[in-house]
Amino acid sequence: MNFSVQKTNWKKARATSVAMFHIEDKRAIRDTIKAIGRNSVGAFAEALLDSGDMAGKKDELFTLYPKRSEASAKRLLLVGLGKKDKLSIEMVRRAAARAAKKAQASKSKSLAILLPSVNGATGADVAAAVVEGTMLGLYKFDKFFKKEEPKVPIENVIIIEDAGTLHGSSSAEVKAAMDEAEAVCNAAIFARDMENEPSNNKFPETMANWAKEVGKEYGLKVTVFGPKELAANKMVGILGVNQGSAKEARFVIMEYNGAPKSATPPIVLVGKGITFDTGGISLKPGAGMAEMKGDMSGAATVIATLKSVAALKLPVNVIGLISSAENMPSGTAMRPGDVLTYANGLSVEVDNTDAEGRLVLADALIWADKYKPKSVIDLATLTGACVVALGHVTTGMMGNDASMMERLKRAGDATYERVCELPIYDEYDELIKSDVADIKNVGGRWAGAITAAMFLKRFTNYPWVHLDIAGTAISDSAGDYIPKGGTGTCVRLLTRMLKEEANA
Ligand code: BES
Ligand code: MN
Ligand code: ZN
Repeated sequence: MNFSVQKTNWKKARATSVAMFHIEDKRAIRDTIKAIGRNSVGAFAEALLDSGDMAGKKDELFTLYPKRSEASAKRLLLVGLGKKDKLSIEMVRRAAARAAKKAQASKSKSLAILLPSVNGATGADVAAAVVEGTMLGLYKFDKFFKKEEPKVPIENVIIIEDAGTLHGSSSAEVKAAMDEAEAVCNAAIFARDMENEPSNNKFPETMANWAKEVGKEYGLKVTVFGPKELAANKMVGILGVNQGSAKEARFVIMEYNGAPKSATPPIVLVGKGITFDTGGISLKPGAGMAEMKGDMSGAATVIATLKSVAALKLPVNVIGLISSAENMPSGTAMRPGDVLTYANGLSVEVDNTDAEGRLVLADALIWADKYKPKSVIDLATLTGACVVALGHVTTGMMGNDASMMERLKRAGDATYERVCELPIYDEYDELIKSDVADIKNVGGRWAGAITAAMFLKRFTNYPWVHLDIAGTAISDSAGDYIPKGGTGTCVRLLTRMLKEEANA
């Protein structure tokens, strides 16, 4: 998809469809009608307003058809943004997604857009939201369908620059914001593709190959540990969880140095990369188990965030660590009651083999200490309990790095990949005490998202944040720009935070 800013007016815009947006407000709609001008579609829009049929409600979308003599576009899309007091960048993302889907459904190859004005946001911010809505909204994981008709994708998205239409931004600023958003969305889409890939095509080795692919594209150093190196480094969690699998486990290190290495301690991102989670011997029930192909979403987010940060050439240092295994039941699988002794000396009773995420993350958290990190952020589809607590709306956040959590909160609000903090009070430690080892890997019925974090905390001795993305990485219903299935969550969030880090 090609994004551009063009000095033109909507009638001359060289696009098959033109989109205009307005809020649920008569005066705003009148402004749209004024922008359309005195012509057949202007008259039609006026009739739509007078009849009360067009009100600017969110989800409202009218297609009008200008006469050949009136405009070069075949279609004019009038898109509702919803209530004025709810208008935000997020509403623009959603409206842009709806407009793009409509344009694509009518086989438009190009879409020209008149940017709406959003209080407190620059034209560049709004244009970035348009790119996000368009790219993420048009995403489809359709590689396995028999192709009946060739797809007609939108090739060009054009932002119209006319008097005042860039809302205070220059065309160069708008273009730069769009290019940046495009790079980040490409990374988020890559994460979605990895998440949606079925697990007969996706094993720990595949995760490592994806990381290497990114490394090759941007010249990052990527190191991969197989069984031998895992054993040599006492990565007992990854090896233990993978023990029932016919495939080999992997631990992956990705290094991006955008800042002078010595001057800037890195931010380390850790991802859970379970390529399929059956639960192991503590087998999961059958219903919904297919979702567990996405149990590598944390790893996908880490790989994709490195891609995004490298594409933007951010002046920061970031290390990506991925613990990847396949959690299968078999005659060689780990059993409930087994005890693992980690490289840091801590012993763990495996009370439930389905609490495997924390077991593989522990190895990575121990490893992360080598980098004397500024902060370590782990991402994992870790607990069903987090989904019970927060649903699919927000990511659960726990940790001891208050300033990083504050920054993630801000970046989450800006990208709408919101995070919500849960407490990690010492009292919760009681719940993971074991009779036979230092700790056990499950904490019983209560506070499941928190006891998982308490477990991880035992492997950290640096500033740390844990993001439980169990609810946000795998969506059970489609939104305007978030499809059912893999969402690529937190790629935009982390990139935003790292960009701020670069500017700090
Ligand atoms: N991968 C699951 C968590 C999960 C559940 C992610 C639903 C996405 C949607 C994780 O490995 C798991 O099985 N957790 C157990 C932990 C329990 C055994 C303490 C859970 O949440 O039931
Ligand atoms: Mn599990
Ligand atoms: Zn899992």
